[in-house]
Amino acid sequence: VRGLHTMTDLTLQEIDWILAEAEAFSKGMSWRPLNQLFVANLFFEPSTRTKMSFEVAERKLGLEILSFDGETSSVQKGETLYDTAKTLESIGANALVIRHPQNEYYEEIKSKLEIPVINAGDGCGQHPTQSLLDLLTIKQEFGTFQGLRVVICGDLRHSRVARSNAEILTRLGANVMISGPKEWMEGFGSHYRYISMDTAAEKSDVMMLLRIQNERHQQNNALTNELYHSRFGLTVEREARMQKHAIIMHPAPVNRGVEIASELVESRRSRIFKQMQNGVYVRMAVLKRALEQIQ
Ligand code: CP
Repeated sequence: VRGLHTMTDLTLQEIDWILAEAEAFSKGMSWRPLNQLFVANLFFEPSTRTKMSFEVAERKLGLEILSFDGETSSVQKGETLYDTAKTLESIGANALVIRHPQNEYYEEIKSKLEIPVINAGDGCGQHPTQSLLDLLTIKQEFGTFQGLRVVICGDLRHSRVARSNAEILTRLGANVMISGPKEWMEGFGSHYRYISMDTAAEKSDVMMLLRIQNERHQQNNALTNELYHSRFGLTVEREARMQKHAIIMHPAPVNRGVEIASELVESRRSRIFKQMQNGVYVRMAVLKRALEQIQ
C-alpha cells in the first residue's frame, strides 16, 4: 500500500512526481476516485493547517471524510492507536491520516493494516507532507534545489519539520545550514554547518524559520522572548540585509515577535501563506497516490 510515513520512504523520482501532481492540482487538474472512498483523519495532537488542509484536499477529491475526535472517542477508555486504526479499517476507512505525539507511531501499525497510513506528524519525528509542501514552495520560487543555501533556524531539536527537510533538501542537492541556540541543535550539529543568524540572513537563499515548541521544552526557557528575538530571531534589521531574491519560510503557527518580527510575516519575502496554500495541493497529490491503486 502506498502510505507515507517519512520522506525517506520516497525516491527522488517519486518526490518529483508528487510535486508535479501538486503543481497540476494548483493549476486546476481534477481527479476523482471511481468508487466511494472513505478517509479518516485521526489527530491526537492539536493542528490547524495540516488537519484543515487535509480536509479541504479530501473534499476537492470527492472523498468521504470520517470525522474523529480523540477527546470523545474510545481512546478515552484506553483503546490503543492500533485498535483504533484497525476499527476504522474494519468499518470501511480506505486510508488513515494520523498525527500522534509518539515518535514513529506508524511502526507498530503499518504492517498490521491493509490500508495506507499517511503521517501528518509524529512527535519530534517527521512531517512528510509539510516537507513536500515546503519543497513545492521552493521549487516554484527557484526551479531547482541544486546549490541553494537553505538555513534552518531555531528550535531544531524538537522539530519534525527540520528533520524531514534537512535530510531531503540535502538529498536534492541543497546546501543546508543550521542556526539558533547551540543547545537546540542536538541531532543536527554533527551533520550540518552551524552559522550565526547574522550570517544566515546575509548568505541564505531560503531562511526557514521554526516555531519554538514551548510545549515540548522540559524546563523553562532561560531566554525571554525579547532576548531570543534579538539573538536568534529574524529581526527587521536582519531582514534588511538579506539578498534581494531570498525568501522567508515558516511552517507556522508563528510566535510573532519571537522567531520572526511580526511585520515580516506578511512581507514581500514571506512565503508563509503560500506554503499553506501549497499544503492543499500536495495533500491532494499524496491522497491520490495512496488511493488510486485501491479502486
Ligand atoms: N505546520 C503545521 O503542521 O501546522 P499545524 O500544527 O497547525 O497543523
